[in-house]
Amino acid sequence: MTESVPPQKKRVVLCRGQYCNMDRRADAILKVLEPQIDAINDAAGWRRAKLETANCLGMCGLGPNLVIYPDDVVFDRLNPGRVGEVLAALHALLGDDPPPAP
Ligand code: FES
Repeated sequence: MTESVPPQKKRVVLCRGQYCNMDRRADAILKVLEPQIDAINDAAGWRRAKLETANCLGMCGLGPNLVIYPDDVVFDRLNPGRVGEVLAALHALLGDDPPPAP
């Protein structure tokens, strides 16, 4: 008999520090990202990914920055148009099947 083991929970940490959120650019990313993370969790029925914000991730000059833990996958110079890249990486890290080709 095999047991199914749920994939490891991930932390998606978006920096909203002074540099990363200059001109509210991190807030714009958060606005796009949050409902997508909610959808992933709602579809699973449990919180597979936890969205968090940070005051600084220690790489300000490359911001806005986001890190997926515990895998340490870093996205720098992020913008709302690149949220799809974050979601693709998150799905891959969660072990999800790739989405069907358009
Ligand atoms: S303010 Fe975002 S990494 Fe420092």
